[in-house]
Amino acid sequence: MHPLIIAIDGFSSCGKSTFAKAIAQKLGYAYIDTGAMYRAVTLFALQNGMINNGSINLPELTSRLDDLHITFRRNRETGQNEAFLNDVCVERDIRTIAVSDAVSEISAIKEVRRKLVSLQQAMGKDKAIVMDGRDVGTDVFPDADIKIFMTASPEVRTQRRYDELIQKGMSAGWEEISRNLAKRDRIDQTREESPLRQAPDAIVLDNSSMTPDEQMAWFEDLLKTLPVHRKCS
Ligand code: DC
Repeated sequence: MHPLIIAIDGFSSCGKSTFAKAIAQKLGYAYIDTGAMYRAVTLFALQNGMINNGSINLPELTSRLDDLHITFRRNRETGQNEAFLNDVCVERDIRTIAVSDAVSEISAIKEVRRKLVSLQQAMGKDKAIVMDGRDVGTDVFPDADIKIFMTASPEVRTQRRYDELIQKGMSAGWEEISRNLAKRDRIDQTREESPLRQAPDAIVLDNSSMTPDEQMAWFEDLLKTLPVHRKCS
């Protein structure tokens, strides 16, 4: 069977990773969260004092990019992939507000994107994958077999992010999250290097009022309509 590449792009906190994980599990594909990779670089920069008062020490960060080793490993208890930075599990540390606040600036850096995009392309080589992010269908895998562009209303996205942080036992303020999402949308869409945009051949999924089950049913219907469906079954 030809290994399929399913690219899922869209705005922050619109449920991309939940949806991508569910699809990957259903099809038995590997799931790759590219946002976690940008978050891991941001954590590295924060831990090494390369971000001070919002200003990034670019020469220092770019010179240390080769020291970064980002991988995903499956947690046997939860069955979920977890992000590792230089062999340390950082799955929790990369989700903090401090990282969320700085990640858009870090992910706008050309050298960072080049390194991560080439890592992502290598991860998808000859493998069936579901990859989510902002530029998967446009830059990482422009020839992906299925491209989905996800969106949801700002209120729904803020609520989802709030619920996620609370569920993880992290402190969160609704206003702060809402501001952070608006800021990230703006930076993600207007940056020079591979900004967030919908690939012309992507199919839009607005899941503002859809449950996870409804989204899966939507995906199953979509599979039936695509010629690629034959290769999946
Ligand atoms: O999906 P997320 O919120 O965890 O992503 C974190 C940040 O990383 C987001 O603000 C934009 C950036 N990102 C990116 O620029 N390109 C990707 N492929 C994935 C994420």
